[in-house]
Amino acid sequence: MSTKTRTPVMAIRNLVVDYVTQEGPLRVVDGVSLDVHAGELLGLAGESGSGKSTLALAAMRALGAPGVIRGGEVLLSGDNGVEDLLRMSPARLQEVRWSDVAMVVQSAMGALNPVLKVRDQIIDALVAHGVPKARHAPRVAELMQSVSLPPETADAYPHQLSGGMRQRVVIAMAIALRPRLLWMDEPTTALDVIVEREILELVAELSRKEGFGVVLITHDLPRMLEVCDTVAIMYGGRLAELATVDVIHRGGARHPYTSGLMAAFPSLHGDESALQAIPGDAVSLRQPPTGCRFHPRCARAQASSGCMDRTPPWRQTNRLGVACHRADEPE
Ligand SMILES: Nc1ncnc2c1ncn2[C@@H]1O[C@H](COP(=O)(O)OP(=O)(O)OP(=O)(O)O)[C@@H](O)[C@H]1O
Ligand SMILES: [Mg+2]
Repeated sequence: MSTKTRTPVMAIRNLVVDYVTQEGPLRVVDGVSLDVHAGELLGLAGESGSGKSTLALAAMRALGAPGVIRGGEVLLSGDNGVEDLLRMSPARLQEVRWSDVAMVVQSAMGALNPVLKVRDQIIDALVAHGVPKARHAPRVAELMQSVSLPPETADAYPHQLSGGMRQRVVIAMAIALRPRLLWMDEPTTALDVIVEREILELVAELSRKEGFGVVLITHDLPRMLEVCDTVAIMYGGRLAELATVDVIHRGGARHPYTSGLMAAFPSLHGDESALQAIPGDAVSLRQPPTGCRFHPRCARAQASSGCMDRTPPWRQTNRLGVACHRADEPE
């Protein structure tokens, strides 16, 4: 893709997020840097509790208590140049939400107002962002078409629609103001597998057609590798690897955790007997291991490389990045 050299739509820099708990602060996102480009589909994967949703909420500045952003920048580039979303005025934040960056969360029903027809919910968003009245009806019609819903869906209430249709409505709302970036956190877990696949394909198609970037968080790694261009793998609140899907498919993952994740999905290598869960327990953020957080579970960890006592630095070239002391050493 030619997006590599362009300014990213969103550049997350050294983001640090804690949850303030009774037992003290819990560092859940620990220095994550990540770029998302226009038209790029970036998958964000990692075990449950690795900090994916927290990263998404913080990057959207939608993180509520007890979450606290301790440091970093979320640089958004748009018509006003580059702005740090974390330091924007509330008024400016209102403007950029939906029109520059939008987010789709897990529960489609939760995202919709049950007492408003689809059309009126979309129009509310258009009005809030100053879209002239004459554009409302045509935009609603366009959006229904974009997400492959019959035009009359606009006149339904959410409860009259199936789960898959509701999810399409939520996507239509999210893209109503033509954002340049869409975050989707487990957008399809409430849906059956076929509907889920259709929704992800729809988003991929819309992203390519309309040119917006997507960050897709899902546990469905095989599907992620089907629809995404790039994958970012998180482990214990840190980024372990950033790789293109091509590299992953060629078996070129450089972080042992990424390789372990891939091996845990039989459909990625077609041999169910080779299914291997990663041994050991998920990392405790309360008492994370020293050095590389993955080292207690890593077959390649060795003291002489520093795995046990030094945090592996993040090394990135173009769209490939890894935080592993041994990434450059031969097997
Ligand atoms: N409100 C909260 N208060 C305290 N700790 C929290 C809170 N929300 C999340 N956490 C903790 O933060 C860590 C990261 O959670 P997060 O939801 O970001 O992970 P995730 O990668 O999205 O997981 P999943 O794949 O299960 O959705 C977990 O250890 C979780 O227990
Ligand atoms: Mg989550």
